[in-house]
Amino acid sequence: MRRLLVAMAATALILGATGVAAQAAPAPGGPGLGDTYFPDYGNSGYDVGHYDIRLRYTPSTDKLTGTTTILATATQDLSRFNLDFVLDVASIYVNNRPATFAREGDHELVVTPARTIAAGGAMTVVVQYSGVPSTKVAAGFTAWTRTADGALAIGEPEIAWWWFPSNDHPLDKATFDVSVSVPTGVEAISNGSMPRPPVQETLGYTRWSWRSLKPQATYLTFLTVGQYDITQDTTADGQTVYNAYSQLLSPEWRDGAQASVERTAEITDWESTLFGPWPFEARGGVVLPPGSISFALETQTRPNFGASFFRRGANTSVVVHENAHQWFGDSVSVADWQHIWLNEGFASYAEWLWSEKNDEGTAQEIFDYLYATYPDDASIWTTAPADPGTAELFGDAVYDRGAMTLHQLRVAVGDDAFFEILRTWTAEQRYGNGTTAEFTALAEKISGQDLDALFQAWLYTPAKPVLASLAKKAT
Ligand code: ARG
Ligand code: ZN
Repeated sequence: MRRLLVAMAATALILGATGVAAQAAPAPGGPGLGDTYFPDYGNSGYDVGHYDIRLRYTPSTDKLTGTTTILATATQDLSRFNLDFVLDVASIYVNNRPATFAREGDHELVVTPARTIAAGGAMTVVVQYSGVPSTKVAAGFTAWTRTADGALAIGEPEIAWWWFPSNDHPLDKATFDVSVSVPTGVEAISNGSMPRPPVQETLGYTRWSWRSLKPQATYLTFLTVGQYDITQDTTADGQTVYNAYSQLLSPEWRDGAQASVERTAEITDWESTLFGPWPFEARGGVVLPPGSISFALETQTRPNFGASFFRRGANTSVVVHENAHQWFGDSVSVADWQHIWLNEGFASYAEWLWSEKNDEGTAQEIFDYLYATYPDDASIWTTAPADPGTAELFGDAVYDRGAMTLHQLRVAVGDDAFFEILRTWTAEQRYGNGTTAEFTALAEKISGQDLDALFQAWLYTPAKPVLASLAKKAT
């Protein structure tokens, strides 16, 4: 979405330099966006503004059929472009004419439109498809999860390939309409709010429609299908809260889940006092069936939680964590997967702040505990949070050492500057992308301090930082 401006600037430049429209030869778009860890995720040559995803899904067969309509803008004179997708494509239309297409590698779909698209020109891409997502392997695995009563399209970074064709990288965010027809009596849940209530369309099938009004990364777009109890309420500021609880939860887990997820509005209200205004138009949470997904994901407006987070009763930390991501990850997204600590370190630090607020241990106490407890040879010390590699993308260095880095920053600059840094970050990068270098530059600008030694030790060095020298700085 944000690269639109770049495309228009480039077009203006060509016109400005010569006074007439220069005839650049149309060229194919690229199969990636140059991500450091995932060079073939996303595609170049166009920028998506909106996805309209319209599906039918049958849990008993895992059969998914439907149409995704992509509204995009060419960012170059485009002869050909790629989509990331693994299901079976029946037809593609581009700007009113049938296009030809071919598969390349395990998730690339190469589309050749009947006519070249000029830089800055609109593209309407209609893809009709079907398939059994659980049978498709790409990047060595299947991200689509079948459950006892439905299915889950929830994953990071990979998930979109299994249910809609896309430009699959957080650099290209878009608004979404997701509309799914499922057997009547089954629920289909996605992001945002419902532009219309579920409607029975044909004998035995009911269509559920969801809409995201703010830019959303493809991996934060989810589909949860199964038997769920849905609660609906309204926040003080008039936002709809939809929560959903799997009917497969035991009564004990269900109580713990409800005692946590029903506090979403309170928790996000508190987070907004620290991080700035809630960035989206709806809130909520989804608690998944036991034995399905073991992690939680900050799916935009409405996180999904693995049931086992609530196996010992309430767990508000995970609600704090996934909702903190709505600012750090969802509104401000990584520009490159290498910068993942900007998501996980910040969401983890939000949990420390929640503990501090509730008199369950200060951030300093948590820092001291982690610093003293991780063995010297643990991956948290041997991995640099700012460059964890794919193997440690979701490892301790990214989560705990990322949060420890933020705590050291807070100690160094003081609370006023620290929270001003966080709020300026979420305001300046809102609905866009960020990098580690942009964040550290902002921290130095707002604090007026040279923080190079701190960030070098905590973010860039694969060794346990020495505390004494840093503690001196702070006083
Ligand atoms: N972003 C998610 C979280 O905060 C983590 C997802 C990890 N993915 C996975 N496949 N384990 O907690
Ligand atoms: Zn997280």
